[in-house]
Amino acid sequence: MGFLHIDESKCKKDGICVGECPLVIIYMKDKESVPEMVPGGEQVCLLCGHCVAVCPHGALSHEKIPIEACPPISKDLIINEEQAIQFLRSRRSVRFFKDKPVEKETIQRLIEIARYAPTGSNSQLVEWTVLTDKEKIRNLAGLTVDWMKYVKENDPEAARLPYIPLIIAAWEMGMDVVLRNAPALVIASAPAAAISGMVDVSLSLSYLELAAQKMNIGTCWAGLLHGALLSWKPLQDAVGLPKGHVHQYAMMVGYGKPKYFRLPERKTPKIQWK
Ligand SMILES: Cc1cc2nc3c(=O)[nH]c(=O)nc-3n(C[C@H](O)[C@H](O)[C@H](O)COP(=O)(O)O)c2cc1C
Ligand code: SF4
Repeated sequence: MGFLHIDESKCKKDGICVGECPLVIIYMKDKESVPEMVPGGEQVCLLCGHCVAVCPHGALSHEKIPIEACPPISKDLIINEEQAIQFLRSRRSVRFFKDKPVEKETIQRLIEIARYAPTGSNSQLVEWTVLTDKEKIRNLAGLTVDWMKYVKENDPEAARLPYIPLIIAAWEMGMDVVLRNAPALVIASAPAAAISGMVDVSLSLSYLELAAQKMNIGTCWAGLLHGALLSWKPLQDAVGLPKGHVHQYAMMVGYGKPKYFRLPERKTPKIQWK
């Protein structure tokens, strides 16, 4: 019924999918019936696939998320807690890149992984703009420096930020501390319609950078470019985000030069237990 296809020979009528659906749109008429979608459920279904993922018997398929497209979780690939902690703590912001291009297939692969990041209401509205031409990337860094020069002259508040004159001076000495001579730049963006667009963009890039470290690729969040891209028209024109995309963040991507041997400490978390 609705989006749900139940294999009656496999369904144990245990109601697990009924209890899991975040929108409570799956029900069972009685204990002897297989699950169904409530009338009109198709209009509100999040397409989150939890109903498919949670059925231990492989009895439930979804019109839009067919069971064939949802591989089983491999027990052999499950990492333990220590491995997870080291993996997450090993992520570093890489600011020095080898003069070596990153293959488009590698970037494509990273984006394919990043699309599994959660999005508000499962909207999946994040899109990608990728630059792999070093000259074009350098041009964006230069436009960001132009914005900084403008800010320095015209915005007394921002002029007090100590890093602006330093970045401008570095650029004039031939050093790009905006995009760090990265061989690739990946920009995630989302339209205004994405209610939690900025969070979705950030999570997608977080997934991307975590995956990248396992492919020997270094990444760094391009905060300076982000600031300029919010308002600097020449930069907005040069980047050319998809139409209507107001949420954006860019990430430098390249084969990293540094190797790290320790996990740096961070502040103790401040927690309010209530
Ligand atoms: C920014 C953000 C806000 C979310 N808010 C809610 C929420 O208020 N309630 C909820 O049940 N799920 C919430 N979610 C979870 C999403 O609905 C969920 O990520 C999406 O359906 C995909 O399912 P998955 O996370 O299991 O892959 C939120 C997710 C994100 C990223
Ligand atoms: S895809 Fe998600 S929202 Fe839709 S029926 Fe399944 S569990 Fe419910």
